Amino acid sequence: MQVNDFKRYKKLNKKISMVTCYDYSMAKILAKTEVNCLLVGDSVAMVMHGHESTLHADVPMMDLHTKSVNKGASKKFIVSDMPYMSFRKGLTFAMETVETLTKAGANAVKIEGIDGHEKIIRHIIESGVPVMGHLGLTPQFVNGLGGYRVQGKNEKKAQKIAHDAKKLEDLGVFAMVLECIPMELSYEISEKLTIPTIGIGAGPYTDGQVLVIQDLLGMYDDLKLKFVKNYVNSSKLFSEAVNLYDLDVKNGSFPTVNESFQVGYLT
Ligand code: KIV
Repeated sequence: MQVNDFKRYKKLNKKISMVTCYDYSMAKILAKTEVNCLLVGDSVAMVMHGHESTLHADVPMMDLHTKSVNKGASKKFIVSDMPYMSFRKGLTFAMETVETLTKAGANAVKIEGIDGHEKIIRHIIESGVPVMGHLGLTPQFVNGLGGYRVQGKNEKKAQKIAHDAKKLEDLGVFAMVLECIPMELSYEISEKLTIPTIGIGAGPYTDGQVLVIQDLLGMYDDLKLKFVKNYVNSSKLFSEAVNLYDLDVKNGSFPTVNESFQVGYLT
């Protein structure tokens, strides 16, 4: 998948699949799948580093994880998040961040929201770097939004999101994430735009979907989000495997000679 394929997929009515990826070993697995696009999301701060919010992702963190993903899946289309405040500190800082992320292996960057950073979005696109938009629940704005909640629930707020989506398309973004908005609104937006919408918690009518890979793989059995589907219970699978190992170690059945190096003089 290349940047021009996003619009082409939409024209052909072909859905786009995207998952987050943060590290080399997962990237190697995902490289062998049919998934269209990998997102080095700023959710890395929560998922891989245990922070409470994405506000803790910074440029060095995004750089390191983008490099790891690129090493494992260099042929996949990789989108990296512009981290918290990186596009609000002026053009120079934003462009330095874009340069870092693209040199790390990102094919495109994703930027949350639009108000007040339209010019920066335009400049990045004019510099030859594709930008993915992100509207609805924009976690970097969690404090201003008053928490993680579904956005666009009343007519006025819904129309603001729809209006911003059109503005982003006019600025030249190649696709946009719509996060946690009612499905009627994501339908309206997806119908109006010629670029694809990628939903998360936005219902079935978007042109594609994105999920955090650890959610999809069921790695957290203590977290149940309405919009997530677990395709496997890997938390259970992994613990069962580790407990089998633990048992083998404790009863002496691992390692056997098959897993050992021999020089011969002991046998
Ligand atoms: O950082 C992230 O994982 C994201 C997705 C939720 C779209 O931005």
